[in-house]
Amino acid sequence: MHFSVPIHLTVALLASGINANLDACPVRSGGKALYVQSNEQQNYVISIPIGSDGKLYGGIATLTNGMGSDIIDGTTNAPAESDALSSQSSVFVIDDLVFAVNAGSNTLSMFKIDTSDPSKISMVGESAAIPGEFPVTVTASTKRKTACVGYTGAKAGVSCAKFTEHGLQQMKAVLDFELNQTTPPVGPTNTVAQVFFAASDTRLVTTVKGDPTTNNTGFISVLAFQDSDSSMFQSHDVRSSLPGTAVLFGGVEIPHTSELFITDASFGATALNLNTVTDRVSLKNKIVIENQQATCWATYSRARGSVFVTDAALDRLIEIKADGSKILSTLNLTNGDPGLTELKAVGRFVYALSPGNGTIEASITVVDAFEGRQIQHFELEKLGAGQRSQGLAIY
Ligand SMILES: *[C@@H]1O[C@H](CO)[C@@H](O)[C@H](O)[C@H]1NC(C)=O
Ligand SMILES: *[C@@H]1O[C@H](CO)[C@@H](O)[C@H](O)[C@H]1NC(C)=O
Ligand SMILES: *[C@@H]1O[C@H](CO)[C@@H](O)[C@H](O)[C@H]1NC(C)=O
Ligand SMILES: *[C@@H]1O[C@H](CO)[C@@H](O)[C@H](O)[C@H]1NC(C)=O
Repeated sequence: MHFSVPIHLTVALLASGINANLDACPVRSGGKALYVQSNEQQNYVISIPIGSDGKLYGGIATLTNGMGSDIIDGTTNAPAESDALSSQSSVFVIDDLVFAVNAGSNTLSMFKIDTSDPSKISMVGESAAIPGEFPVTVTASTKRKTACVGYTGAKAGVSCAKFTEHGLQQMKAVLDFELNQTTPPVGPTNTVAQVFFAASDTRLVTTVKGDPTTNNTGFISVLAFQDSDSSMFQSHDVRSSLPGTAVLFGGVEIPHTSELFITDASFGATALNLNTVTDRVSLKNKIVIENQQATCWATYSRARGSVFVTDAALDRLIEIKADGSKILSTLNLTNGDPGLTELKAVGRFVYALSPGNGTIEASITVVDAFEGRQIQHFELEKLGAGQRSQGLAIY
């Protein structure tokens, strides 16, 4: 990504002794293309070019050669009608690679982005078979040349594979979770929410939701690599269950800190401290969002130095201080979406997916985070993404 910063500003900041934070400048756009997965029986990655004005234009669908799926909604005992995977990061972008899980066929697909036309992606090698069931979340590290997938069916846990320019190598289980789940799992509680790398790619973090109806608080797993440059993990993770939390869901590491910002669907969000000596995670701040219903996804905005969260059942975007100490802004949207799921902040914009509700189309809301207003509501049906669509990643 390239940010152009007025030279006089940089010089002034340096001269004043302030660490020039280029990321803090309200750049117009940092994104070139956005990716979601349709998560339909025949699964597609939908890629949409982002214009220099931050808006979405056109778009194409590329087969993953895998199958999507949906969780069983524990309140109805029927397939979930939206938020089908109940996870964050089912699509992940790093450098010029896109990764997507196929929840219904237990595979991971890897694609290369055409850097001259980033909505064009092509599969690299074969999809990798995952030694587990119902994969919902993926992350990757170029430093470790490793991709890891969290799965939450009858066999729940995390597996990782090395990747090269020729594709993914064999996936190997690194963590097993005794969730007593089925395939597909009954959720959204008591399932894996997200995997991500933290602490300069020295730790793999997995959030596992609890279930307030059974006093199960869930946990955060931290798995360290054996050393600074191998792709081998230690044999055991460290799991922290945090009193006062119940359904820890999607989150993000706050850059240049040892803090994690993780939503909790039962009350709002948490700022957590990751101790890189003990690998324990502790609660630093808990932010209760009034009238929230299911706050599940979070993204860090470099441009604003804050975190944005969405609620699966409310059409609004909430901005929270990165240390979780207070709500900074609430943007009530009026585009008719029943709620918002995964989101990403890039440059001065925030992009959030709504899977719709079957009648209302799936769409992406684009918000100018500095002006605090929606600049686009982009419908996805024409691209083949409907109520089961999940994930949102940006190149
Ligand atoms: C899963 O089932 C086993 C055996 O019945 C039980 O010991 C364990 O506590 C259960 N775990 C959860 C998370 O319910
Ligand atoms: C959960 O914990 C509370 C407080 O300890 C207790 O009153 C309640 O009965 C427990 N519920 C279940 C389902 O175990
Ligand atoms: C957003 O909507 C909520 C609930 O309707 C309301 O309480 C709040 O004041 C609104 N916030 C703004 C900034 O409009
Ligand atoms: C979707 O939401 C709209 C607006 O609330 C409602 O009119 C419609 O009946 C809903 N559709 C379904 C399938 O629930």
